[in-house]
Amino acid sequence: MQLKTLLLSSATLPLAKSETVLGVYIFHRHGDRTPKSLAPTNLTALGADEVFQSGSYYRSKYVASDASSPIVGLSNDIAVPTQLSVISPADSVLQSSALAFLQGIYPPAGDNGVSILANRSEVQAPLGGYQYIPVGVSSTASSNPNSENNEWLQGGSGCGNAMVSSNNYFRSDEYLSTLERTRSFYSGLLPVINGTFSASQANFKNAYTIFDLINVATIHNQTIPSKNLLTDDTLFELKTLADNHEWNLAYNRSDPIRAVAGATLAAQILQQLNATLTSRGKTPVGIQFGAYASFMSFFGLAQLDKLSADFTGVVDYASSIVFELVTNASTSSSSSSSYPSLDDVSVRFLLANGSAAQNAPREFPLFGRSQSPLPWSDFAAEINKFAIGDTTAWCQACGNTTGICASAASSSGGSSSDNDGEGAAATTPSNNISLPVAGVIGALVTLVVILGVEGLVYALAGLKLVKKSTLAATAGASGAVGGAAAAGSKA
Ligand SMILES: *[C@@H]1O[C@H](CO)[C@@H](O)[C@H](O)[C@H]1NC(C)=O
Ligand SMILES: *[C@@H]1O[C@H](CO)[C@@H](O)[C@H](O)[C@H]1NC(C)=O
Ligand SMILES: *[C@@H]1O[C@H](CO)[C@@H](O)[C@H](O)[C@H]1NC(C)=O
Ligand SMILES: *[C@@H]1O[C@H](CO)[C@@H](O)[C@H](O)[C@H]1NC(C)=O
Ligand SMILES: *[C@@H]1O[C@H](CO)[C@@H](O)[C@H](O)[C@H]1NC(C)=O
Ligand SMILES: *[C@@H]1O[C@H](CO)[C@@H](O)[C@H](O)[C@H]1NC(C)=O
Ligand SMILES: *[C@@H]1O[C@H](CO)[C@@H](O)[C@H](O)[C@H]1NC(C)=O
Ligand SMILES: *[C@@H]1O[C@H](CO)[C@@H](O)[C@H](O)[C@H]1NC(C)=O
Ligand SMILES: *[C@@H]1O[C@H](CO)[C@@H](O)[C@H](O)[C@H]1NC(C)=O
Repeated sequence: MQLKTLLLSSATLPLAKSETVLGVYIFHRHGDRTPKSLAPTNLTALGADEVFQSGSYYRSKYVASDASSPIVGLSNDIAVPTQLSVISPADSVLQSSALAFLQGIYPPAGDNGVSILANRSEVQAPLGGYQYIPVGVSSTASSNPNSENNEWLQGGSGCGNAMVSSNNYFRSDEYLSTLERTRSFYSGLLPVINGTFSASQANFKNAYTIFDLINVATIHNQTIPSKNLLTDDTLFELKTLADNHEWNLAYNRSDPIRAVAGATLAAQILQQLNATLTSRGKTPVGIQFGAYASFMSFFGLAQLDKLSADFTGVVDYASSIVFELVTNASTSSSSSSSYPSLDDVSVRFLLANGSAAQNAPREFPLFGRSQSPLPWSDFAAEINKFAIGDTTAWCQACGNTTGICASAASSSGGSSSDNDGEGAAATTPSNNISLPVAGVIGALVTLVVILGVEGLVYALAGLKLVKKSTLAATAGASGAVGGAAAAGSKA
């Protein structure tokens, strides 16, 4: 204690040692894309550039040899796959975004990547030494129910209690009164959207997809019909209503299971950061691409909405949140014996709203506290209050007892056999890449969302919360089932 006080006061001296970054976890949204309501949704050239620029920003902050906050021990120019744990759902917009982002983090190696062969000839990999960094599929179901750290929890798909909770939103007074209050607002927009939405679909129930269609049009379409209707006030109202709709589906303070997507993300963050610390930096970088709804669920659980109502808004394309493991203790990359003790490690949270290249990440205190960065043990204790990190906990919170939860119940605790990776990868939960069955299921879910075929959704009810597609035949008719897609699809 005395020693700590001493250290604290010496830290205020001008000679204070500068902060070291031991690792980071980055959760990232995709870049600009085509609208959700016109399948298939594609990442655009603009979107690829946004995520690439974001990657380049983080490269200049954490990775490059002249980085402003270099991560201890991280390779500067040549990607070392064991140092990076990258996952994304099996969604082409998110997978493509992850690849473009990684190109910014580790651009083509050029002369650095040239091999010299036994006969002295030099060989460069294709495309100027393009670097291949695996992007694991975070899936909605697991081929291995014993694998406690699997990403089948991603997005809360199939969580019974969350499904009930989200459906309750469509019965809430708040929803029903907004639905009525905004009827004329949405029907007034029909001349703009009637190529995609029918009169019975043009209402608050489709707040997000209508906003999305118009938002994409304002970015890409030079000939929007009845463009004069889209005043700044109208565009603002559209965004605000969509924010309100999506926030209420992602989070409800008195009904936390609705935010199961944020709860599972929280566990992934904690597990990755913990693995970085316990392995003394073997895998210092965790990156996950995911849906804006997961940002919102996490913001609610971490009480960021109490800090600013801005956190209840859908984050812009290519947004990212970052969790930095930082220390003021002395470290040296060459000697693991100098790795700081947990007492000397803190976690700093930052948000870049939009591509980090244009919107530098800003620091915010988490969990309704005023302190940032937060000591590691405090961070872990706070995030553990809501993190859902293994099958047993998920089944309990979701009230599920069948399917994967039946086997989870009978084999709870048996999680030692899932390390089929190699070396450092095996210690890193999110490096669990090879889940062929899960991948197929994930792809199916994506397809279902894209097609918007309601019947299929019910056939696959085990994989879905409630669905959102505006193209559903019954849109407008049955409020209780038509609103929210599984968070994993809300990209
Ligand atoms: C997405 O790309 C595919 C293939 O190029 C194309 O057929 C489709 O129309 C695109 N979607 C949109 C909404 O532009
Ligand atoms: C050197 O070895 C590589 C790989 O075996 C071969 O492709 C290349 O033609 C050789 N170069 C010369 C100059 O022999
Ligand atoms: C939040 O949850 C409470 C309790 O379940 C419920 O009464 C309220 O209507 C919910 N609010 C929304 C917007 O879903
Ligand atoms: C959409 O609205 C415009 C303007 O009211 C009208 O001219 C057009 O025929 C409508 N299109 C469809 C497909 O209903
Ligand atoms: C622009 O809007 C018009 C009218 O809705 C539509 O026909 C056209 O396909 C849109 N173009 C693009 C590039 O989105
Ligand atoms: C970190 O991981 C270690 C080893 O798996 C575990 O004992 C410890 O409880 C974890 N700490 C936190 C905060 O999760
Ligand atoms: C991020 O930007 C969007 C759009 O500008 C806004 O609605 C949202 O509130 C912002 N979020 C935060 C946390 O600043
Ligand atoms: C390190 O010291 C600086 C200067 O006193 C302080 O601002 C920063 O919060 C400290 N970082 C940690 C992780 O304690
Ligand atoms: C969880 O329970 C719900 C409601 O019974 C069900 O629809 C869903 O398929 C179950 N999820 C899983 C993963 O078994």
